[in-house]
Amino acid sequence: MNIEYFETSRVFKIDTNSTSYIMAVCDREKFLGHVYYGQKISDSDVNYLLRLNENPFVPSLNSRDRGAFLDSFPTEFSGHNVGDYRESSIEVIDKNGNRGVSLFYKSHSIYKGKKKLYGLPSTFAPDDKCMTLEIHLEDDVLNLEVVLFYSIFEDSDAITRSVKVINKSDDTISLTKIMSVCVDMDDDNFQMLDLQGAWARERQIEYRSIGHGKQSIGSTRGESSHQENPFIGLCDQSISQDSGRIYGFHFIYSGNFIAQVEKNQFDMLRITMGIHPDNFSFELQKNEEFTAPEAVLVFSSEGLGKMTRTFHDLYRNHLIRSPYKNKKRPILINNWEATYFDFDSEKLISIAKEAKTHGIEMLVMDDGWFGKRNDDNSSLGDWQVNEDKLKGGLKNLVDRVNEIGLKFGIWFEPEMVSPDSDLYREHPDWAIAIQGRMPSRSRNQFVLDLSRKEVADYVYESVAKILRSANIEYVKWDMNRQLSDIGSSGLAPQRQGELMHRYVLAVYDLQERLITEFPDLLLENCSGGGGRFDPGMLYYSPQIWCSDDTDAIERLSIQEGTALLYPLSTMGAHVSDCPNHIVGRTTPFETRGNVALAGTFGYELDITKISNEDKNQISKQVEMYHKYNDLVREGDYYRIASYRENHYFDCYMVVSKDKKKALVTYVQVRNRANAHVRKIRLKGLDPQKKYTVEGMEKAYYGDTLLNAGIVVKNMRGDSQSTLIYIREVEG
Ligand code: GLA
Repeated sequence: MNIEYFETSRVFKIDTNSTSYIMAVCDREKFLGHVYYGQKISDSDVNYLLRLNENPFVPSLNSRDRGAFLDSFPTEFSGHNVGDYRESSIEVIDKNGNRGVSLFYKSHSIYKGKKKLYGLPSTFAPDDKCMTLEIHLEDDVLNLEVVLFYSIFEDSDAITRSVKVINKSDDTISLTKIMSVCVDMDDDNFQMLDLQGAWARERQIEYRSIGHGKQSIGSTRGESSHQENPFIGLCDQSISQDSGRIYGFHFIYSGNFIAQVEKNQFDMLRITMGIHPDNFSFELQKNEEFTAPEAVLVFSSEGLGKMTRTFHDLYRNHLIRSPYKNKKRPILINNWEATYFDFDSEKLISIAKEAKTHGIEMLVMDDGWFGKRNDDNSSLGDWQVNEDKLKGGLKNLVDRVNEIGLKFGIWFEPEMVSPDSDLYREHPDWAIAIQGRMPSRSRNQFVLDLSRKEVADYVYESVAKILRSANIEYVKWDMNRQLSDIGSSGLAPQRQGELMHRYVLAVYDLQERLITEFPDLLLENCSGGGGRFDPGMLYYSPQIWCSDDTDAIERLSIQEGTALLYPLSTMGAHVSDCPNHIVGRTTPFETRGNVALAGTFGYELDITKISNEDKNQISKQVEMYHKYNDLVREGDYYRIASYRENHYFDCYMVVSKDKKKALVTYVQVRNRANAHVRKIRLKGLDPQKKYTVEGMEKAYYGDTLLNAGIVVKNMRGDSQSTLIYIREVEG
């Protein structure tokens, strides 16, 4: 890891272990140019890549055609309305209503360590394990300073970027757009990769070709969303798990975002990523600053797999803070799919008792325990225990569950209010709404205006009061609708555009307060399944509910897409009952367990009602969880085959960092007649080590398993699966 400034060539060079990122200050006017990003290179001065000698429009030599220069120059952070017609990185409106930004290099500093992003999630490391470059740019007409931050880590190939805007003028300006990333590069015939989805079908891998003009994904829904994850990749057409180049861009933010690739007339690409400019503006008074969220850039020349493992390690080591991040999470049983709203203490106790006999460690009481909530039409906001359901109160229930020997967890949806609630009747103005317009309902609920301090404080106290009242060790923090009708009764007219961002900051602040007051709490985020599965939330909770679709086969592609970026330790995955409540498919209990074992493991079914045959398998799965979870949580993830691509089987493996242990998960989604017994080549093992492979009589060297592979036992039927444990031979 190194960051250096070369005075004579005016070059900044950022080197991670295997990548380089190079910028240069150009021309008399000090434009900051983007020179190179990719595989590590030895030279720093590769300024020929800027093509300035070939560019007849360089402003100091030709002021006639400044616009042509700006529209072709590979810039590090694009301005607005001064000649570059490609995507701007920043837009402002000054006191006279003018719009225009043009930024020039002013100064820089390079230091050990990394600053925190105030109020926002961000990566971290001890001072001697990371380095930061700050480049200060200035628009001297506006008196506006823009600081670009780049950080790198000793043990990672990731580069993080963030941006701060400071209004140094005496007048108020309105910031109407701010990107966190702008990267200009040549189009080497790349394709674009993203994770698209829907409720119960989140994070599906999608490739598309890049045409001229702009192609973007994003969210204007107030959360990162089920529909698009805040990630784009640019990769070779021939990308595979193990070969090909990919640039991955991931945004550490949980609200509106845009991630875009623009291909211009010269076949150059501009990649931008940041807060979505729709519905966004932020007023900056004299000396006020705005911090844009952090983004992570990962380049791999060794295929998708290496990019994946770089993101996994970065998030495990430098983003997730929870004390649980390196610990086995308690195996939980959640009553949502077991009972929905129809439960009482006795029902929960009967689930807990049965769960205990099979080694389950925690009972989670889901939606329906408060107010008059017997369906999803009421009571959000009224966080008082429903004592008709929980006779004797919550503490009594928690104590009884603890006596049985289980921990207790609880569900909240703190950000919401039902129109049919005491809270809404008392404070209708606390809901997000456009003045004079009745907001749209979704799941029959409104969103609370968390930008108002009194609302956020009410929400915090409601949750904290419950947590203080009993021995509650886990919270599932849900968010079941997306934002619309964006308006706040607490913000001045010219500040209405701040609401969406202030909302996200308030969610972060609430969760920060929660984990500060309850440092041992295991927090799991959730949003109608996986609608807010993003790196931002991982700063507060070590795990996120992956999807409301618990069908093991549907989960294969959901978990494949999720694991492209997110460590397995973060993926909420449970075994549920069949036929599956969302898709109606029946899958063997064993397969449901094998698929859920790739995440934070648990159950989501009425254990008092399932067959004895299924029940008996729970104890076996619990045993496997204890045996394999350290490996799954901490190991390196390798994808071997994708059911999404081959339509027959899915296969992935996890290898311990010391390469002594590995676990292969193989799921045969569809069987076919007269099929040859399948061979798979393993990955990630040490070629020189000798391993025993579960199901094989002799031990084999890693190079045999990597190259010749293993054969998978024949399985009759669809949705069959197996786990194969691999261990280094001792001695
Ligand atoms: C969301 C969650 C579910 C469940 C319900 C309760 O959909 O994803 O797991 O908690 O809400 O209403």
